[in-house]
Amino acid sequence: MTSLSRAFNIEDLRRIARARIPRAIFDFYDGGAEDEVTLRANRAAFERVQLLPRALVNVAEVDTRAALFGVESRFPLAIAPMGAVGAGRPGADLSLARAAKAYGIPYTLATPATTSIERVANEVGGRLWFQLYVLNDADFRRKLMERAHAAGYEALLVTVDVPVGGKRERDSRNDFTAPFRPTWRNSRDFWRKPAWVIDMLRNGIPRMENLDGFVQWSTRVTDAGAASVGRSQDASFDWEGLKRVRDIWPGKLLVKGIERADDAERLLAIGGDGLVVSNHGGRQLDGAAATLDALPAIAHAVGSRLTVLLDGGVRRGVDILKARALGAQAVLAGRAPLFGVMAAGEPGARRALEILTGEFERAMKLAGARTITEITPDLIRH
Ligand SMILES: Cc1cc2nc3c(=O)[nH]c(=O)nc-3n(C[C@H](O)[C@H](O)[C@H](O)COP(=O)(O)O)c2cc1C
Repeated sequence: MTSLSRAFNIEDLRRIARARIPRAIFDFYDGGAEDEVTLRANRAAFERVQLLPRALVNVAEVDTRAALFGVESRFPLAIAPMGAVGAGRPGADLSLARAAKAYGIPYTLATPATTSIERVANEVGGRLWFQLYVLNDADFRRKLMERAHAAGYEALLVTVDVPVGGKRERDSRNDFTAPFRPTWRNSRDFWRKPAWVIDMLRNGIPRMENLDGFVQWSTRVTDAGAASVGRSQDASFDWEGLKRVRDIWPGKLLVKGIERADDAERLLAIGGDGLVVSNHGGRQLDGAAATLDALPAIAHAVGSRLTVLLDGGVRRGVDILKARALGAQAVLAGRAPLFGVMAAGEPGARRALEILTGEFERAMKLAGARTITEITPDLIRH
């Protein structure tokens, strides 16, 4: 596909994706909460970090492999959980999972994904993690965990930064609200994207398959606006609730959405295995710190005892190196592979990973780091 071969970076994939899918859906993927200060801050923090590359290191061969929970990943990278991706392209979850498998990295399936826990495990396999939203129905929550465990998912990522939905104003402006109602504005926008319309006519509007039987949430992806996510969360969920999850879930337990060292310490105390320093890609609390800025204190507090991951704003391979140097064991990429899959399906998702991993390997060579353990804090100019 010519457009894909002319996509040299993630921003190129973003532009192709924007041209292909309706504006309301693109904005739901691309946007953040309120003034999008945190969304921009995540990027700005990466851009602010300056590196001090080591000279004259023999980098003819570099080893990009990372151990995550004692299991090797080809890169210190995983795909972040994202709901409603099938709204932009049918089968997008499967395409992302297949691309992750091809690149030897973990894939995280979201609770509001458009492909079920079982289908991803059966049709793709690979290294799978499951993201749990704290839905306000404890039985349903438990069933999701049981299903993920039975299907062989290695880790559970409990997302804790959505006691309510963030205020995502692009969704409101585009009439992309829940429940979805066709309006002049959003319908006109949909019909302007014929490739997308044909996909939807052929395949039908995808459902959030994991939520079948969850009465409080419409499973239609067109109802994916931020409001619907927040409305069905259990806002009373706290550390006690997390302890109960720990008692039930036998696999690796991570919490996604930590920005404070004291919270990381509490997680350690209740027997968590890891955390994702995350502000939900700037989609929740606008004004929350950039994740790269929050990372060092957390890594300092618990980095030797918990697996510390980071997400938010990863758009270049060198970002993976910067996050490693500041104490993360690996990063999760959300929108980067999402733009790839929206641009061109599975080949697009692979292209996104090819770009990120290629840039990462090149950055290791240019910085004089032969293994990921050589990506150390002294590479950063303080
Ligand atoms: C379209 C979209 C949907 C998302 N859905 C979920 C979700 O269902 N559960 C969750 O924990 N995080 C969700 N997130 C947040 C991501 O997991 C991740 O924290 C964030 O995208 C990372 O920032 P990045 O997109 O800049 O890489 C979503 C993000 C996007 C862009």
